[in-house]
Amino acid sequence: MTNKTRKMLVTSALPYANGSIHIGHMVEYIQTDIWVRFQKMRGHECHYVCADDAHGTPIMLSAEQQGITPEQLIERTRAEHEQDFADFSVNFDNFHSTHSEENRELSTLIYTRLLEAGHISQRTIKQFFDPEKEMFLPDRFIRGECPYCKTADQYGDSCENCDRTYSPTDLINPVSAVSGATPVEKESEHFFFKLPDFEQMLIEWTANHLQSESANKLNEWFEAGLQEWDISRDAPYFGFEIPDQPGKYFYVWLEAPIGYFASFKNYCDRENIDFDTFTKPGSDTEMYHFIGKDIMYFHTLFWPAMLQGSGFRAPTNVFVHGFLTVNGQKMSKSRGTFIKARSYLNHLDPAYLRYYFAAKLSNRVEDIDLNLDDFIQRVNSDLVGKVVNIASRCAGFINKRFDGQLSPTLSEPELFERIAQTNIAELYESREYSKAMREIMQLADEVNQYIDENKPWVLIKEAGREEEVQAICSMGLNLFRLLIIYLKPVLPDLAKQVEEFLNIDALSWSDLQAPLLDHEIKKFKPLITRIEKENIEAMVEESKDNLESSESDTAITTVSNELSSNPIANEISIDDFSKIDLRVARIEKAEHVEGADKLLQLTLDIGGEKRNVFAGIKAAYDPAALEGRLTVMVANLAPRKMRFGLSEGMVLAAGPGGGDIFILTPDDGAKPGMRIK
Ligand code: MSP
Ligand code: ZN
Repeated sequence: MTNKTRKMLVTSALPYANGSIHIGHMVEYIQTDIWVRFQKMRGHECHYVCADDAHGTPIMLSAEQQGITPEQLIERTRAEHEQDFADFSVNFDNFHSTHSEENRELSTLIYTRLLEAGHISQRTIKQFFDPEKEMFLPDRFIRGECPYCKTADQYGDSCENCDRTYSPTDLINPVSAVSGATPVEKESEHFFFKLPDFEQMLIEWTANHLQSESANKLNEWFEAGLQEWDISRDAPYFGFEIPDQPGKYFYVWLEAPIGYFASFKNYCDRENIDFDTFTKPGSDTEMYHFIGKDIMYFHTLFWPAMLQGSGFRAPTNVFVHGFLTVNGQKMSKSRGTFIKARSYLNHLDPAYLRYYFAAKLSNRVEDIDLNLDDFIQRVNSDLVGKVVNIASRCAGFINKRFDGQLSPTLSEPELFERIAQTNIAELYESREYSKAMREIMQLADEVNQYIDENKPWVLIKEAGREEEVQAICSMGLNLFRLLIIYLKPVLPDLAKQVEEFLNIDALSWSDLQAPLLDHEIKKFKPLITRIEKENIEAMVEESKDNLESSESDTAITTVSNELSSNPIANEISIDDFSKIDLRVARIEKAEHVEGADKLLQLTLDIGGEKRNVFAGIKAAYDPAALEGRLTVMVANLAPRKMRFGLSEGMVLAAGPGGGDIFILTPDDGAKPGMRIK
């Protein structure tokens, strides 16, 4: 163990600001958080920053679809993201946004330096343009028939059926996913980052800094040849305008990684930390990015090259992890395994998932699987059955028989030393968490064995052996304390409860060196409870109701506006239907809306939650006659901004319209909030 204090800047990838955090994302934030907490416990200066990735076409369109401004959308998402992370005990030192002044300044600075150094080129390209919406279309917003296998409704860049990639202009019968119009080809001036200028630098950097799997991947890319990268987009675009180029914007992926620096800058200014020490080349500080395997190209080629080309330091390392599967398969909404962070938190203790991910993670780019049965079994047997069990076996005697007092000496100092000197630190440092967890559980087995062999519950019944019982239980609690130090990066909240129970200051790594003797502890309270299968089932059930959430660059789903000749409108699948969250609602208030000739404003109660809904039923109902009645509402309709306010759902009614419209009413016995199946 080195005593030198290291200075580190650590980041996790910036989540997109138009979707909820799900448990797949959590793999990364938990992995990073564990590493950072470990470094801090070792006494290093480690700063952990993140931000929302707020710009780009999908966010712009998604806001438009919801009838709000992009600023409103990203603000709303940011609050949700921050709460999710906090509730999972992911402890960022700063969480910022790429839609920030710091990011505008740094992006402009980096771009200007690249331009001045001759690393930016300019040329005209042809791209698909939506003539109705008057915007250029990103590949993901063009759908059409695959030019190879002819499968319908494929993205503009690749086919989900045959996996081949192509250019959007190769698609058969292309359609804009934004408006449904047929796109036309149009010319536009674009700016390119000359990545090939950095080939030599990148080859050297790769060899010295990356995991071997990432280095192999990069070698494939080097062999394929590095290409210039298009870093500009035309208006309309939600982002930063390129200096001196009106109507041209930085492509979101250019300024997203700069968002790491922007968040750090924002934090440095607030906390009086020297930004340059961490971001200038040649200093002995370290910089690490944790990312998923899907965004490697951006982080291991473009980003280091941009940094080098603009006079900043390159990353010390980029730590790449694999993807999460649930029960061996890709997360899926229909199976209820596309689990949002919030849905998890509604039913389960975050400590369980932190532990389970730790028990699965290595420093390799492998996918990890959350098998829900294994999850229950593993957490219950390791955390409850092994670790917490030690404390509950020893604490009772100390609390009841010895006034909470631990013995003045250790009865088995060698056992203490051996456990205190296990090399768990090295495993954390190298991100071999699964090995660390396995070792810690083996130690827990040994401690339980020590207690089994010494049988304090037998000795306590024999006269004159109190002191021995106190010694055994003090020994047990001291070993328990060592295990909690080892587990603290993974289970900070459990560690905090233990610190309270043991009546001690916050544990750090150096506390392994000395035992806790002649010390009064507090009353033991149960620390962690078993996972119950019902909670898992409830979480899966809730996830089946989740709305479509954007995983990647595919933010919006557009409903086909083609009219069908079928009198029963376009067929939808059961999956489509199950996306609609229908609830029984009580009409708490119904009012006229000033200036509206068709609408009534309804306040609906759906079991504790209130919704404001505007319904076009004024000609059919007198508001007073509606108050107190039950009806049925679509509870997960994206809120819509209307002239009179925000409408947060829709009430179901039938009829030709005008005065002939009838709101649906459930039978007696229905309660507000009930789901309709
Ligand atoms: N906004 C970009 C990152 C910009 S970084 C300058 C992005 N956002 S994301 O929300 O799609 O993903 C955030 C991180 O979560 C990425 O590192 C991504 O790899 C990771 N994951 C997203 N889904 C995941 C799983 N199912 N499993 C594991 N990690 C996953 O990409
Ligand atoms: Zn195909």
